[in-house]
Parts: sequence; C-alpha cells; structure tokens
Amino acid sequence: MADRVWIEVKLDNVVKNFEIFKKKVNDKVKLMPVIKGNAHGHGVYVIAKVLELHGAWGFGVAYLEEALELRKKGIKTPILILGISLGDDAEYVINYDLTQTVSSLKHAAELSKVASKLDRKVKVHLKVDTGLHRLGVDWGQKAVQVGHSIASLPTVKLEGIFTHFSNVYNENSYKIVEKQLYRLLYVKKELASNGVRIPLIHAAATGATLLFPETHLNMVRIGCGIYGMVPLRSLRKRVGLKETLTLKTKIVFLKTVPAGENISYGDMYITKRPSRIATIPVGFDDVGQLLSKSRRALVRNKEVPIIGVVPQNFSMLDVTDVLGIKEGDEVVLLGTQGDKTIDMHEVVNIMGVALGEVYSALKANIPRIYIGQIN
Ligand SMILES: Cc1ncc(COP(=O)(O)O)c(C=O)c1O
Repeated sequence: MADRVWIEVKLDNVVKNFEIFKKKVNDKVKLMPVIKGNAHGHGVYVIAKVLELHGAWGFGVAYLEEALELRKKGIKTPILILGISLGDDAEYVINYDLTQTVSSLKHAAELSKVASKLDRKVKVHLKVDTGLHRLGVDWGQKAVQVGHSIASLPTVKLEGIFTHFSNVYNENSYKIVEKQLYRLLYVKKELASNGVRIPLIHAAATGATLLFPETHLNMVRIGCGIYGMVPLRSLRKRVGLKETLTLKTKIVFLKTVPAGENISYGDMYITKRPSRIATIPVGFDDVGQLLSKSRRALVRNKEVPIIGVVPQNFSMLDVTDVLGIKEGDEVVLLGTQGDKTIDMHEVVNIMGVALGEVYSALKANIPRIYIGQIN
C-alpha cells in the first residue's frame, strides 16, 4: 500500500521544532501543541504521543472527535477542545475528561447541567473575543459578568481564560497584539478583583510566541510552528524551524511521445519535442489541487514539470532531461530530495491559500511513514 503514494514524517524534526518553542518561553510557561486537522496531515496520534513524551502539557484540538481519538488511543494529558461541543457532545467531554472552550454562559450552563447529572465536574476555558471576532465572549464587562457567572456554576471548574490574536506577522501587528492582550488582561484582572481566580491564561500561538514574549502568559498554543510552518521566511530561517513532511510517490510507467502530441485530457499541453513522459499514480483524489498548482516534482535530484491536466488518479511528468530515469524511481511532490526542495511555503503562495491548507489537503488515507523515534 505504501508504495503508491506516501508521506514520510520526520519525527526528529517535529521534536526539534517543539524544542525551539520550549526554549523561547520560560520554564513556567506550559506548552500546548495545537494538533487539529490530523496534526496538519502528520497523523494526530503519533504527533501527540511524541510531544507528550517531550513535555507537552496538553493539546489543543478543534473538535470533540479529534479529542476522543487521542483519548481512546491512550493520550493522558489535558486536551482542550478549541471549538464548540453542543448537545450530546457534553457527556463525552465529561466522560473522557476533556476540557471545553466556552464562549457564553448558556454553553457553560448546558455543560454544567450534564455534569450535575453525571455527578462530575467539567473543566472549561473561557474564550474572550478581543478582536478576531470568531468565537469568544465580547471582552469588557460582558466577559467579566459571564466569567463570574460561569465560575459560580456548581459543577464547572473555570480552569482557563484565553484569546486568539488576529494578526501577528505584519509590521503593525504589535499594535493589534498590544490591544488584544490589554483586553484579555483587563477581563482577567476584573474577574480576580471579583474573587474569581483562574489558573491558566493564554493567548499566543506560533507567531506571537516567537515575536511577542509579553504574550506568553502562563501557556502558549503552538500549531503550525511544530511542522516548521511560519509565513515569514526571514523569521523561519532565523528561528531555524525544520521541514517535517515529505510527500512521495514512484514512477509507474514511462513512454516516449513524439513532438506535437497532447498529454493528458484536452489540449492543455502539447509536446514541443520528442518527450519522455513519466506517469505517477497520484491525482487530485489524493492531494487536492497541489499538483495542478505547484506543477513540479523532484526525481533523480532534478526538478521536473507536472504537465497537462492533473486527473483524478494518474498524473504526468516531463522527464526528457533526466538521465537514467526508470520505472520505480522515487518522486518527491512536496519536501526535499537530495539538495532540492519543493517548499510548502512557496506552494502555499502559488496557490494563494492559508498556510497549512496544503498539508491539510493531503488525504488521511495516504500512508504515513514515521522516520525516527516515537519514544
Ligand atoms: C485558538 C487557536 N489557538 C492556536 C492555534 C494555533 O495557531 P498557529 O498554527 O498559528 O500556531 C489556532 C490555529 O488555528 C487556533 O485556532
């Protein structure tokens, strides 16, 4: 199965990246890797296991399903669900000892009701909207009132309060970060003066952790940085983050085609010379738009173009200029081969998508091969 298309995950580099963040914060600051989206395609359980062993305090995920997968496979550390768990989800949150983000009193009260029924307590973190305007209770007195009421619910433990920055990588981001941080600290301070003490306070994700030490508070939530992803090239280089994933396949068929012939469907690509064409068993079914947008692959340490329409399952490369090419040769579609790299950041720029979208588009059924120690 693993020789059609596969993903190699360099666990040593995952750990190296994590250690970079560990060194960035003082040793009282907890580290919470955010491993949503199947750990950006790396495979959520293995990444959690490795980082748990290397000192992650707990993990952030988007949905209940992700949290349950981790618990069922034996991850014992705290797991904070960053999204909303509604209705029947509450029972799972409580029974699996998960921690739930809440953005309103109504939501916390629903959890509390279920916790009372189960004769348990539920741990929650209050999300405060300080400027991203996605989830979270509005900062200011509204958040203070909601926080106070949540803390009074009998079966709720208000363990944390947090926010998420809207923009940390621009020239003027410091102003946004300053404003959002002030708003979070205001709510925390007002709650404290009303007798509500909340042990954990967090705001920084990858960018703020690297660029704004004042945002570390007592926990940071690192997502894309674990996989070496940071949008600013200069920052990435300065910090020394490493690539963690290589997408590979093999040439399954080779043929020579005369000049003037179309390759693949339609007439998008017509050969200009007699050409060696290699077929790889990968298409949009496996990797979404990656191949049709990046248009390049590495084989025998040479960059070659992906030509013609990219179909569902089999795509074509022009390998005319690659000496000694043969069926079975390994092809890299993302990541490094020899001294050449197809850099995910460049592909993201070409595609005009969010950082992380390329990795997240790699289908979960592509086998992941882990290089390096899990423990
Ligand atoms: C609430 C929250 N915290 C942390 C993160 C991690 O962000 P990053 O990938 O920039 O580290 C995310 C990612 O989307 C998030 O939504």
